[in-house]
Amino acid sequence: MDLRSLVDRADALGWVKTVTRPVSAELEMANVANALAGRIVRFESILGHAGWRVVTGVCADRRYFALSLGLPRERLRDQMVAGIRNPQTPPRVERAPCHEVVEPRVDLNELPILRHLPTDAGPYVTAAAIIVFDPQDGPNVAFHRLLQLNRHQFAARLVENRGTYVAWQRCKGDLPCAICVGLPLQVSLAAAMSPAAGLDELAIANVLSVTPVVNCHTNHLWVPAEAELVMEGRITKNLAREGPFPDLTGTMDGVREQPVIEIDRITHRRDPIYHALLPGGLEHKLLMGMPREPTIFAEVNRVAECRDVLVTPGGGSWLHAVVQIAKRGPEDGRQAVLAAFRGHGSLKHVVVVDADVDIHDPQQVEWAIATRFQADQDLITLFDQPGSSLDPSGRQQPGQKALTSKMGLDATVPWQVDPNAFQRVQYGPVELDLYLDRT
Ligand SMILES: Cc1cc2nc3c(=O)[nH]c(=O)nc-3n(C[C@H](O)[C@H](O)[C@H](O)COP(=O)(O)O)c2cc1C
Repeated sequence: MDLRSLVDRADALGWVKTVTRPVSAELEMANVANALAGRIVRFESILGHAGWRVVTGVCADRRYFALSLGLPRERLRDQMVAGIRNPQTPPRVERAPCHEVVEPRVDLNELPILRHLPTDAGPYVTAAAIIVFDPQDGPNVAFHRLLQLNRHQFAARLVENRGTYVAWQRCKGDLPCAICVGLPLQVSLAAAMSPAAGLDELAIANVLSVTPVVNCHTNHLWVPAEAELVMEGRITKNLAREGPFPDLTGTMDGVREQPVIEIDRITHRRDPIYHALLPGGLEHKLLMGMPREPTIFAEVNRVAECRDVLVTPGGGSWLHAVVQIAKRGPEDGRQAVLAAFRGHGSLKHVVVVDADVDIHDPQQVEWAIATRFQADQDLITLFDQPGSSLDPSGRQQPGQKALTSKMGLDATVPWQVDPNAFQRVQYGPVELDLYLDRT
């Protein structure tokens, strides 16, 4: 389902807030989107950008992904695993909605690019998947924030050693790229994954939901045909100052010299929809955290029976996870902690719980820690580990992963004790209508 169909379907379910009053891309829209966090927000009228609509929040809730992919929420993780295990080359088409309008000239000022906070370096594109072709590893699709520098250039934040950065380093001259905005959700989800080198994210997306692709006009890259906006260009060897800008943890990321992208061509759909997401907001978090759940699940399953994994929003959907296991042996909880760290290299704190604890309910997780955990026996600490560069409390090393301590809590019922002593008491069911006045 393309993005506009998703917004319409979600609207019919009452999940969309529509703002018809004209709004400014300069701070105002970000503030409104933040005030409506968790909802899909459709801005119908953008000051100075006639013809464009803006949506935010489309990736802010798992039920939006479930609706878009036509799956129950509980099947999302298995479907991601299926896509990674058995990617399918997307169908190629000759004519595509993303080419309906070809702009006669490149002028980034015509796009409704948001400025989010007064302290930002400038207007930023936040929901852009960049497609490149790596001479060794093939196509790569990944999100990168883009600081608008002028009418035809961006500075792109390329984190070292990720696919786009590696392809850019390997390329002797300019690296052709396609910047796609307003994507079907399966493409956004796949773009946020870091599969093994050589695995094409668009082929993963195509397993989640059929994703036709079309050739760009000025280079040989293939882009999702249903994208709302495609900017074709080149990642040059020139550098520019990028940042400050908020990052996933909701703290401010600093200033770095980053590659400049030169835009050669802009195409879009008729009545285009521009997707903007708030840095550090729910969409950013869910897109980052959700693709790590299958990788943690797979690693934990090697050492214990893993039932479920949640990368929790309180930890920026990056640093914290809760893992649910069916405990079969004394070491399962401890082994699950270590496996979870292997499953997601940036994970800093993890709690392992039994199958009777609802990992989506933070109160239940805290209850498990309160009643099943003893720090002298069940706490696992690791020091001087490679961790996330997004954690301001880590020891930052420019160009490398930060160094961090890690902590795992085995909050499962201790082995070979009376399990009944650890069960939550259950009250009986009642028919409340019998007891309450109907007034
Ligand atoms: C909304 C969003 C914004 C992101 N911004 C950046 C960014 O600015 N720079 C970056 O290197 N990675 C960024 N990422 C992370 C990468 O897109 C993600 O890790 C991706 O899986 C990398 O894939 P790769 O390892 O195949 O290149 C962002 C992810 C999301 C979901």
